[in-house]
Amino acid sequence: MTETIRALIDRLCENHALSVEEYAQLIDGRDGEAARLLAARADAVRREVYGNRVFIRGLIEISNICKNDCLYCGIRRSNRSCVRYRLEKDDILTCCEEGYALGFRTFVMQGGEDAFFTDEVMTDIVRAIKARYPDCAVTLSLGERGDESYARLREAGADRYLLRHETASPAHYARLHPAEMSFANRMRCLRELKALGYQVGCGFMVGSPHQTTRELAADLKFIEEFAPQMVGIGPFIPHAATPFAGHPAGTVELTCYLLSVIRLIHPNALLPATTALGSIDPKGREKGILAGANVVMPNLSPAAVRKKYELYNNKLSDGDESAQCVAHLRQSMAAIGYEIVTARGDYPSN
Ligand code: 5AD
Repeated sequence: MTETIRALIDRLCENHALSVEEYAQLIDGRDGEAARLLAARADAVRREVYGNRVFIRGLIEISNICKNDCLYCGIRRSNRSCVRYRLEKDDILTCCEEGYALGFRTFVMQGGEDAFFTDEVMTDIVRAIKARYPDCAVTLSLGERGDESYARLREAGADRYLLRHETASPAHYARLHPAEMSFANRMRCLRELKALGYQVGCGFMVGSPHQTTRELAADLKFIEEFAPQMVGIGPFIPHAATPFAGHPAGTVELTCYLLSVIRLIHPNALLPATTALGSIDPKGREKGILAGANVVMPNLSPAAVRKKYELYNNKLSDGDESAQCVAHLRQSMAAIGYEIVTARGDYPSN
């Protein structure tokens, strides 16, 4: 590690901010020693805020029907080989019941942009979950909707919303998405969600096609300035039935390095060790936690539909990825010194 990199890491720890050029230097100048130093610092600040606690979120993939055609995504509308499904209210409530018994106190409803889930349908589901489980947080991850829709869902009781910004570069955004989608609309959604009082999560894929250090540095600057409560990052993994089939996957190494940087930018952030990270490396989740992540999101979807929510090939859906294996997950976290807890795990309010 050069003295320049060491000085940048020191300054990042002190100021929780760097310039875009400095973020780029930190990325390009990395080596194993820098990664170890960043991870040790990230672990220390995370322990100050959260101790050794790791929060679990029960992920319910409510629909793989999507009106969008994102070039990287396996459930894009033009993928004719995707077997489509949707869960209805009763299925979702059954997932929650099972999840609650397993110790989950956050339910994340994630899905494609499926017109079935109108505001009426969705607010009814959110209200039903909040009525049955008043001690639980409800997180939505349903893509881009109107301001009014986000307001109604919030009013119905939704606490958090995950919407990855995907890339902070408008030009890069345009290369990952079809013409009818826009960076400006993504930003409008994120700003509105924050204004409505949701705990908001943004994020991006590491190693997405056409991404260079410049784009990653812009992502870090965006995350620094937007100050989301949650940041989801995971490696890009190609899906054979998409235009990006031939692109290489992102790496565990760079994902973990960036997790440490993000932890140092926002010590209080809730950072998941994502399914994608666990999917490209059997120890991916543990590596993510050791780099500074403090959330895991096992799958609570009914077993029959799990394989169909295939955003990328070889996506984990069973083993430790399934909520039913939370006992084993607890053991693997304990083995590296972390404790899975049954708590809502909200963002600390001050
Ligand atoms: N590889 C990794 N992550 C993906 N996502 C979508 N497709 C892929 C892929 N091929 C991520 C996107 C999206 C989230 C739900 O999943 O970042 O926001």
